[in-house]
Amino acid sequence: MTASSFIAFISDPHLSEERPFFQFNWEILVDELSQRRPDLVLVGGDLALDGANNPSDLWFARRQLERLGCPWLAVPGNHDVGDLTKAATSEAAVTEERRNRYLETIGRDFWSFDIGDWRIIGLNSMILTSGFAAEAEQERFLARSIGEAGSRQVALLSHMAVCDAALSEVDTTGWFVPSESRDMLGAYFRAGKIQLCLSGDMHQSRDRTIEGIRHVWAPSTAFVTDMREEWRPKFGGRKRVGWTEVRLGKDIEVTMHEPRRMVDFDIGNWVHDGTGLYYEFACGSRFAGFGTAAKQIAP
Ligand SMILES: [Fe+2]
Repeated sequence: MTASSFIAFISDPHLSEERPFFQFNWEILVDELSQRRPDLVLVGGDLALDGANNPSDLWFARRQLERLGCPWLAVPGNHDVGDLTKAATSEAAVTEERRNRYLETIGRDFWSFDIGDWRIIGLNSMILTSGFAAEAEQERFLARSIGEAGSRQVALLSHMAVCDAALSEVDTTGWFVPSESRDMLGAYFRAGKIQLCLSGDMHQSRDRTIEGIRHVWAPSTAFVTDMREEWRPKFGGRKRVGWTEVRLGKDIEVTMHEPRRMVDFDIGNWVHDGTGLYYEFACGSRFAGFGTAAKQIAP
């Protein structure tokens, strides 16, 4: 029997050299993981503050991930490649050009990685229902990766969460994998081919077993939104910044970490009025000094 693998599951660091609002928490995370030395870091997307519009944010995120000093694998979020085509109202929509920029900067957006007795499959949830050739390619890749998993247990990693309370639910919030794509995944769930779903995006931590499958949401390492739950939909998670320790062996062990040195920044006031001007109010030059400081911190 293989010993369990120690995975640090992090998400939504929202990194930017020009607007390094959340660099403080990132520095604490880098420090903490350098001491804890995980076997692998999984990143649940939104690496960049606004990579869909600012390629430099993605490059900066890449450089920051390399500071972790251990193997890492990431999937893209809406702030890296744009949002689902049909959901993107106020934010940038996913395009092939934005996706290609991610591939050039960060690496593959869907992939499979074996660790111990587990196979982890990363998916780009932002291209679901896009109709891009890559969407069909990803579906074929998923089928092949699951088909060839053998005796390994399978974990999926995606930016978007699969569902709130039931695979068959009708999502009226737009926060979950679109129903067409959930039907595609559902066949694997029903056949017992997937044991664990890891996702980010929600900026809250949650660990639930739904219809026999474990669904773990990583909190953001950067910020929360509407911590007091005054206006956002409630999904029952815990809104604090931090990271998630996932031990994969015969069983799945999950421990949420909320380092006391991190600050629970709440950006609810930025986004509450629905104008969609996420982070855009600040002009880059105003933060040039911070950017320089962040660069100096990086080796
Ligand atoms: Fe995010």
